[in-house]
Amino acid sequence: MTAKLVTVQRHIMEQQEKYPEATGAFTHLLQDLLLAAKIITREVRRAGLQNILGLTGQTNIQGEQVAKLDEFANDTIRRAMDHGGHLCCMASEENVDVIPIPERYPKGRYVLLFDPLDGSSNIDANVTIGTIFSVYRRVSKGTDGTVEDCTQPGTKQVAAGYILYGSSTMFVYTTGNGVHGFTLDPTIGEFLLSHENIRCPRKGKIYSVNESNYTHWDDGTRRFIDYLKETNPETDRPYSLRYVGSLVADLHRTLVYGGVFLYPADRRNPRKPKGKLRLMYEANPAAMIMEQAGGRASTGTERILAIVPEELHQRVPLIVGSQDDVELYEKFVSGGKAEEGR
Ligand code: AHG
Ligand code: MN
Ligand code: MN
Repeated sequence: MTAKLVTVQRHIMEQQEKYPEATGAFTHLLQDLLLAAKIITREVRRAGLQNILGLTGQTNIQGEQVAKLDEFANDTIRRAMDHGGHLCCMASEENVDVIPIPERYPKGRYVLLFDPLDGSSNIDANVTIGTIFSVYRRVSKGTDGTVEDCTQPGTKQVAAGYILYGSSTMFVYTTGNGVHGFTLDPTIGEFLLSHENIRCPRKGKIYSVNESNYTHWDDGTRRFIDYLKETNPETDRPYSLRYVGSLVADLHRTLVYGGVFLYPADRRNPRKPKGKLRLMYEANPAAMIMEQAGGRASTGTERILAIVPEELHQRVPLIVGSQDDVELYEKFVSGGKAEEGR
């Protein structure tokens, strides 16, 4: 006998059955998202064949060039999610304002925040990209959701996850009961349980950062990276460097292999004084997933999930990964000595 066969739909349903008050709305919401994931997968897989690579010529709210697949993924998620009756509003990295639910559709109790296509600079080179999302309960009282619903602290997430468009497509999610991974079997169009209860190793052997920003970092961050490049007494070799440049891909590898991913503040660079990644679309879901897998996520001085958001598109430094490696980083930035870390 090999491992049991479980679809993601069944898994989500079984998780929800643990909550007697659950109405099924949340299960349906994730199912709608899975449909979008399959449609985006189809488009990503065929992108090279149908003139959907390249840029649209537009610039998004983040001041970045919008790729055609960015736009396609954003539209697909909006179209899959706006009519189900489970959401009161959405927010996307690609849209300036909160996305209302059209008047003709019923409004629900949940809020969806997403980065529809993460790692867009990698699209044209056929390198792994992803979608990353968070679900919150609504807190506002009116009919339509508001920015208040979309700027809750990460501790309030009821679910977080990502879809990885890699050598296979994976759906990884948590509802607060561990982190579970599913691989899309394209021949049957189903996501099947492939990684049950993923645990991030306590300590890793890999660091992941865009090191070209080294001169912009604070001293603690620089000393930390210098330290990892010295010989690690436990392995007799330095940490290895791996950096894809798609957060979802770098996060997934860090989750499975352990180690630390960093996008620190570029303090000496006025363009990125708070780092690059967005709190609501990238850092919070990454942090919930990593904590649920036994890892840690911080700005270096503060737990990501405890940050009280100031605005929808806020950026934060993100250091996420194995518990011991992230704690060691925190020691370096607080001025602690390297020796205290090991
Ligand atoms: P997005 O494609 O959604 O704009 O996000 C890109 C992000 C993230 O995926 C990645 O970790 C980071 O940008 C890479 O940035 P650098 O090119 O500065 O390393
Ligand atoms: Mn992104
Ligand atoms: Mn994006």
